[in-house]
Parts: sequence; structure tokens; C-alpha cells
Amino acid sequence: MNIENLVNQIKEKYEKLGENPETYLKGLLQAKPINYWDYIEVDTLLSLQKPRTNFKDEEIFIMYHQVTELFLKLMLHEIKQVAVEVNYTEEFLMNKFTRIIRYTQMLINSFDIMKDGMNYDDYNVFRATLAPASGFQSAQFRFIELHCTGLENLMNEAGRERISSNPTTEEYFDHIYWKDAGLNRKTGKKNLTLTLFEEKYLHQFISLANAMKGKTIADRLNELPNKSEALLNLLREFDHLYNVAWPMVHLNTAKHYLDSKNENQQATGGSEWKKYLMPKFQQRKFFPAFWSNEEKEKWGESI
Ligand code: HEM
Repeated sequence: MNIENLVNQIKEKYEKLGENPETYLKGLLQAKPINYWDYIEVDTLLSLQKPRTNFKDEEIFIMYHQVTELFLKLMLHEIKQVAVEVNYTEEFLMNKFTRIIRYTQMLINSFDIMKDGMNYDDYNVFRATLAPASGFQSAQFRFIELHCTGLENLMNEAGRERISSNPTTEEYFDHIYWKDAGLNRKTGKKNLTLTLFEEKYLHQFISLANAMKGKTIADRLNELPNKSEALLNLLREFDHLYNVAWPMVHLNTAKHYLDSKNENQQATGGSEWKKYLMPKFQQRKFFPAFWSNEEKEKWGESI
């Protein structure tokens, strides 16, 4: 496109908006060039690490959580596009799930930064200042679940036995697997980590689950005829990476810091973490229809 043509198009654009193109062209002449640091908001990004102690490794802990939240945002960015797409083609789904898998793998492959990248003794001191905060309170982690699958797939075995035959969304949330991290089902008492998390996010989770009813990615994939073996493999891979492989590197890190000397220390979020964090206990699967009964029974046993 030559410059004259380009100027004419700019003229046309602003005339259509009822504006004087000359004003905008003059503005363009004076505008400063954009910089990397402004566009990427580098200063803001690098000002977000605010340790509560003087332990150097606390910054690693904060930054790695922030990096994870950004990756979860990248994943949600793709997952939301999959959820709203009207026409699923094999190519679209393969492309999107390849991206989503790539992000999940990066989270799994980098988790060593948490396990081996911090001083054991320092971590075990500074973590006390974080209570009752816990990664458990990551809302994006739950938003991903609610876009990917129905609430019926976010129940563990005991939850499925407890729940009524035609539950409301609210009842589902009373029995959802993650409540087991902070609710004593015998006494009905909730710990502070769970109470604060629900106060902030439960209403958002309920509205999202209602909006996604029958329209989650799993619901839509189940209805899709003629899925290729390649696509099914990709969907199973994501399900396994997010719901077994990541939980296992995370659990092994928790074991490293909280139990490597057999002391079974309490986590900042106060859960019975050794039991709660096991994929076999949580039984969280996004796409159960694509697994055999045997694979479901052995969920989380082999990795
Ligand atoms: C030293 C590193 C870490 C340790 C020792 C650790 C430990 C734990 C423990 C024990 C729990 C169970 C809840 C509780 O009682 O607090 C938990 C939950 C959780 N943590 Fe971590 N964590 C670590 C790093 C991370 C990181 C980097 C993330 C990334 C955001 C994260 C995200 C989560 C999530 C999403 C849950 C809930 C999992 C679920 O409900 O299935 N954690 N963590």
C-alpha cells in the first residue's frame, strides 16, 4: 500500500467518525514512540513483589506464584476461547489444546524452582508469616475447572455418595472436592483459609457454574461426533497433566518441605494435605467420558 493510499484511508476512517482527520494526523506527528517498558508495564510488574520477611528466598516464592498465575491466565485465555467457539473443528481444537498442554507442561517442568530452588530451613520459617494464605485460594485454578467440566466431575467418591439425586448448583458446591481441604464434615466447622476464600469467590464460582451448565468444554466435546484418536489423545493428555501430573509435582514439593523429616507439619492452609492433595483422593477429571473404567479406577496411581 502506498503512503497516499494509506493517508486517504486514515482520512476516511476519521471522517466516518465525524472527526477532523487533520487533528489526528497532527497528533501522530507529535506522539512519542512507544517503549518496551511502557507497553509491557515492566516497572509495574517488577514492583509487585512485597516480601513479609527478610528471607531472600521469599521473593522466589512470591514470584513463582505470580508466574504461575500468569500461566493460568494464559491457559484461561485459551480455554475461554474454546468454551465460546460456536463451530468446533478438529483443527481448532487440536491447535488450542496443544497450546493449553504446552502451558501446563511448563508449569510442571518448572515446579522444581519451588522444590529445590529455596532454602529448606528459611522456607519453613518464612511460610509461618503467610498463614492462613494458601495456593488453595487461587481462583484461576477453579475458573479453569469450571470452564472445562461440569460440577458432577468435581466430586470425589464420598461427595458422590452424599449428594442428592438432583442437586442445585449451591448443593454441588457444598460437596465439591475442594471443600475437603478446610471443612470438617463431622463438626461442620470451616477453617479460616476456606472461609475467606468462599467469602471472596463463592458467588463468582456459582454464577460461572450456572452460566456453563451443559456448555462446559466437556459437555460440548461429549456431543461432538467423530472425534479423531489424535484429538482424544490430546484431551486425555491435558486431563492427565492438569489433574494428575501437576498435582503430583506439587504434592512432592509439599512432602519435601513439610514431611521430609517425617514431621508431618501443618500447611498454611490447614488441610490434611497428605490425603487432600492426592489425585486419587480428589478424583478430579475434566473428561471422564474419554477414559476407560479401569483407567478411572486407577486414577493417579501411575504417572
Ligand atoms: C513450597 C511450595 C508449596 C507448598 C509447600 C505448597 C503446599 C500446599 C498445600 C499443603 C496445599 C493444601 C492446602 C493447604 O493446606 O494449604 C496446597 C494447595 C494448593 N496450592 Fe500449593 N504449595 C506450594 C506451592 C504452590 C504454588 C507455586 C502454587 C501455584 C499457584 C500452588 C497452588 C496451589 C493450589 C492451586 C492448591 C489447591 C490444590 C487443589 O485444591 O487441588 N502451590 N499447596
